Formats: sequence, structure tokens, C-alpha cells
Amino acid sequence: MAKVMGFPGQVKMGPLTVSPMGFGTWAWGNQLLWGYQPSMDSQLQQVFNLAVENGINLFDTADSYGTGRLNGQSEKLLGKFIREFQGEKRIRDEIVIATKFAAYPWRLTSGQFVQACRASRDRMQIEQIGIGQLHWSTANYAPPQELALWNGLVAMYEKGLVKAVGVSNYGPKQLVKIHDYLKARGVPLCSAQVQFSLLSMGEDQMEIKNICDSLDIRLISYSPLGLGMLTGKYTPSRLPQGPRGLLFKQILPGLKPLLVSLREIAEKRCKTIPQVAINWCICKGTIPIPGVKTVKQAEENLGALGWRLSSSELLQLDYAAQESPQRMIQNIFQTK
Ligand SMILES: NC(=O)c1ccc[n+]([C@@H]2O[C@H](COP(=O)([O-])OP(=O)(O)OC[C@H]3O[C@@H](n4cnc5c(N)ncnc54)[C@H](OP(=O)(O)O)[C@@H]3O)[C@@H](O)[C@H]2O)c1
Repeated sequence: MAKVMGFPGQVKMGPLTVSPMGFGTWAWGNQLLWGYQPSMDSQLQQVFNLAVENGINLFDTADSYGTGRLNGQSEKLLGKFIREFQGEKRIRDEIVIATKFAAYPWRLTSGQFVQACRASRDRMQIEQIGIGQLHWSTANYAPPQELALWNGLVAMYEKGLVKAVGVSNYGPKQLVKIHDYLKARGVPLCSAQVQFSLLSMGEDQMEIKNICDSLDIRLISYSPLGLGMLTGKYTPSRLPQGPRGLLFKQILPGLKPLLVSLREIAEKRCKTIPQVAINWCICKGTIPIPGVKTVKQAEENLGALGWRLSSSELLQLDYAAQESPQRMIQNIFQTK
């Protein structure tokens, strides 16, 4: 694949400049859902290098990524890959790691979030984290804890541990509240991450997008490929192993109109289905962070950049998505 070194359409995100698409690293260390094995590490490093060499500078991770004894593995791998990156220093310096801090029930004070931030920084062995994000809000089940989360973001920003702050799984109402709280303390909220894809485009997502636009917050769309269902490679008789298989079994049979449209547009444009599904997220004004496990997937997903779906293709996809009766289940922590 030709090295293009940066794509047109880089995006301002608070004080940062990021590529119009990032890569997600939930799978890097997760055995239960994603079948991770340490033997995959050299391929993941190639994925990382390929992405960076082709202009991707945003990588999403979390302090809770990695199952069991592999907890923190995604952050560790990202840190190692940054250190071992052989390309220009200038390019390495522009890499933005967006990590997320889990609202564990024992993290009850802002100081504990600062500690969590320092622990992530140590795992990655980097001086400063790009974006420190709250992984989820506790407003649904433990409202008093919420203030510790918000003050934690303020403290990590003021201490210079993070360049910018963001949230994840915040709904429209809670997003406005935290934005105003942070603003009053001089802390700009640069990003909001929600599940956003052709399988997850309800009224809430559209409302969040409008709020983000009005408050100058960037919307990061997670699971843009519907955990793999929007790649076209899975069918009701060809399911992935593990818990994803159970979920896909319920959803895939209702996705026919959508997958037919995706395939039709992909063939017409000489693109692939994942490229069309990711491009749809970009055309909706969001920054998708598809999860990638192999060099082949990374190469293919890089091909989602550098072109745009037409307005009639977008309409066709919106319509097909509405015609497909099944939707992704929403994150249990997603607030109103
Ligand atoms: N904030 C949150 O609560 C939250 C929640 C979920 C995700 N996220 C973030 O968002 C990122 C992306 O979401 P996701 O990983 O859940 O799902 P996704 O991006 O919708 O799907 C990713 C999976 O699809 C498959 N895939 C990717 N590209 C492909 C291609 N070109 N061809 C065929 N298969 C392909 C791979 O799995 P297989 O090869 O195994 O099929 C890959 O792991 C995560 O990595 C994470 O950083 C955040």
C-alpha cells in the first residue's frame, strides 16, 4: 500500500489535531470477546506502524482493556509500539492516545482518578496522555460518584497529565451538564464517544451529534462496524466464536436490507463493505475508531479515507438502516 503520510481533512479536536479516523484497540488483550493471544502482538505492531505511516494518529484504548491477568495490555502494547516506532520523530510526536478511565465503584474521589491516570501513563510510559476520557458515567446507578469523575478530569487536566479531556457513553442531557461544569472550571471538553454506526443511529445519537456541534465537541463513533456485523463477512450460518456469536445470531437475520445496500454501493464504487460503513460515519461528521486485529483489516480500513459517499448514497444507506428491524444493543452505562 502506498504511504500517503496524512490525509486531507485532519480534524481539530480541542488543542489537538487528529486524523479523520482513529483505530480502536479494545481487542488488544481481550481474550474473552476478541480471542486475543500474545502471539498476535507482532501483527498488532505491524498494524500500528502501518496506521501511523499512513497518517492515522488517533488510537483509542482504556485502562480496563485486557482480560484477567492481561488487564492493561492494550495500553501496554500501544506504549511499546510508540517507543519502538522507527519512523520520523515528528510523526511519532503527533500520535494521540485517547485512553478511558473506568468508573470502578472503588474510585470514589477525584484523587483516585488522578491516580488511575498516572497508572495509565506509567503503563504506556509516555509523558502526557492525549485525551483522558471518562469511560462511562455513574449517573444511572451511583449519582454521588459522578462528581468525583468530573473533578478527576479537572485535576488531571490542571496537573498536565492529559492534553485534553473527553467523555464516553454520555447521553445528551448528561453531556451538556458535564460540559458546563468543566467550562466553568476552565477545562474544555474536546470529545464525546458513543456507539454510532449504521446499526446505532437513533434519535439519541442524532441529538448528541447536534449538541457536540453546538458546543464544539468532536463526536467519536465507536463500534462503527457493529462489532464486525457491518463487514459482510458474518451471516446467520457463519458466526464468530464466543459471546459475539450469540449476539450476532439475534441481529444478523434482520440486517438483510442494510447489507444488500452496503454491498451494492461498495461494488459500484469499487470499495469494500467495511470501507463504506466507516465512510458513512465520516460523512455524518464523526470520527470513527474501527477496531483492527490484522494487517489485512488495517489496510482495508485505511481505504475508508480519501473519498466520500454521495448524498444519494447516504440517503440510500440511512433508509436501508431504518428498514432493517434489528439494532445494536446500547451500552448499559449509556445515560440520558
Ligand atoms: N467507549 C466505549 O464504551 C467503547 C465500547 C466499544 C468500543 N469502543 C472503542 O471503539 C473501538 C471500535 O469498536 P469495536 O472494536 O467494538 O467494534 P467495530 O470497530 O465495530 O468492529 C471491530 C471488529 O470488526 C472486525 N473487523 C474490523 N475491520 C475489518 C475488516 N476490514 N474486515 C473484516 N473484519 C473487520 C474485527 O473483528 P473480527 O476479525 O474478530 O471479526 C474487529 O475487531 C474499540 O476497539 C474501542 O477502542 C469503545
